[in-house]
Amino acid sequence: MFSIDRFIEACRTAVATTDAERTVEELVAEAVSDPASVVQALPEPERAGFEVLHRGPDLTILHFAWAPWMSFKAHNHRMWSVVGIFSGREDNIFWRRTPDAIEAVGARSLGTRDVARLGRDIIHSVVNPVGKMTRAIHVYGGDFFAPPRPRSEWDPETLAERPWDLADTRHRFAEAEARARATGPTRD
Ligand SMILES: [Fe+2]
Repeated sequence: MFSIDRFIEACRTAVATTDAERTVEELVAEAVSDPASVVQALPEPERAGFEVLHRGPDLTILHFAWAPWMSFKAHNHRMWSVVGIFSGREDNIFWRRTPDAIEAVGARSLGTRDVARLGRDIIHSVVNPVGKMTRAIHVYGGDFFAPPRPRSEWDPETLAERPWDLADTRHRFAEAEARARATGPTRD
């Protein structure tokens, strides 16, 4: 049975080891292998966004709730991360830098029970392709809110790089949720 407290403790132990990323990947895979158990431990939030389950200098654990059909701008993290989906679907586009902007180089669709490990300098954007919240555990190998090097995001239309904007990020979750509420329930 999944327990938030045990999961946090296991991740804290893992990040103190030399094989932190792989161990955390295994812990996240184990957690989302029983999605009903995670849903029970993490009730659906009233609002889309991200809830901080743990924050420390070498580890951040977030409970993500993407709004229905939400599309989220490309960004990097400046630290490794592991994503595990326990409800819905997260479509990732991966990008690489070009002299002027970025270009898309790959994609991966993550469904319930899927886990992805993202490298320190990966650039990705995310779409929730279903008409309900997509929910995930995101584990970061550092303080997500104070990255060791400045984080970037890219304008969704022009793909121009700009500094990561946390306030705008929160605003986009709220906007996406408001749009979904205005549209009403769907078959998804
Ligand atoms: Fe991300």
